[in-house]
Amino acid sequence: AHQWRGVLREYAHRLPALAGAPVVTLLEGGTPLIPCEGLSERVGAEVYVKYEGLNPTASFKDRGMTAAISVAKGQGAKAVICASTGNTSASAAAYAVKAGMTCAVLVPDGKIALGKLSQAIAHGATLIQVEGNFDDCLTVARKLAESYPVELVNSVNPARIEGQKTAAFEVVDALGDAPDIHVLPVGNAGNITAYWKGYREYASAATAPDGSEVDAVATRTPAMWGFQAAGAAPIVLGHPVDEPETIATAIRIGNPASWRQAVEAREESGGVIDAVTDEEILEAQRLLSSTEGVFVEPGSAASIAGLMKQHRAGLVPAGATVVCTVTGHGLKDPQWALRTADGADIEPVRVPVDAYSVASALGLEG
Ligand code: F0G
Repeated sequence: AHQWRGVLREYAHRLPALAGAPVVTLLEGGTPLIPCEGLSERVGAEVYVKYEGLNPTASFKDRGMTAAISVAKGQGAKAVICASTGNTSASAAAYAVKAGMTCAVLVPDGKIALGKLSQAIAHGATLIQVEGNFDDCLTVARKLAESYPVELVNSVNPARIEGQKTAAFEVVDALGDAPDIHVLPVGNAGNITAYWKGYREYASAATAPDGSEVDAVATRTPAMWGFQAAGAAPIVLGHPVDEPETIATAIRIGNPASWRQAVEAREESGGVIDAVTDEEILEAQRLLSSTEGVFVEPGSAASIAGLMKQHRAGLVPAGATVVCTVTGHGLKDPQWALRTADGADIEPVRVPVDAYSVASALGLEG
């Protein structure tokens, strides 16, 4: 009998920085890389989505959290803290429970999706709504971690990046080599940093924690394409955004902590960082759910919206292999699916209890 053992164990030979730490895991990772026939035809390339909503707490954050919480546990930490637009807090709360630690989360006042809020509460985290945005929350969380015995588990914690880079390993393992292009949403810019590190490392030989030699797996690295929401696009604008606004609350961030690393990933890989509008994000979310069977939260759909934008500009090379990370599950923030493209509420059809009425409602009768 065998089941996936979580990213720290599956990739231990590629994670020397985490060697020796206890392993706190909910068996995250091993997510599907789904071929998307409809999208592929639309853009004239071979498109896959890496469906990170299928992680234990329904976002990619679990890959980094298993690492950060494991290291914290190994150092004897009793409490962790994070700032979050929702997914990091859901993940931190769950892994803290698994590790027997307490967890405090700082979230922006009123701008966090209900699914994510309910996860943090279900896992017993102490939830503090800060009267400010994510950037304010992160500033406060960093100060607290400096002054009190609490471990910061945001992506400024290097263990988070180590865990998250395993997603790039999985893509290469699934395709046999790196794709031509990797597309992902950008918020605090930890994930683009992690993917780029993972792709670079997997194209090089390495030394495992036990001293053995590990061969390179990939022969190349992809171009990294990152997309911010237009109302929260500091990297695209070249300056911080004081009041970031977007319906994609996951990436409503005005001053990303890993800004410099994101720019490096773009430059070293020959990629792009651009912005997509809320309208484009919602359209991409609908496209994915209604033509590919994959339901993602709005922030996640920024990658798909970005791919469509590049396609419209004629910038997707014909036949290229393109992987889009979709970072969180649609059930995190389901309200956006319950309205039409023009914003009207969608009401279910109500009928009395009889087959004829249902048949009529379905258009099967006369
Ligand atoms: N997609 C989703 C669903 C996210 O939750 C986030 C970040 C991102 C994309 C952007 O990733 O920050 O590494 O560039 N969410 C963080 C949080 C900020 O608190 O959950 P990034």
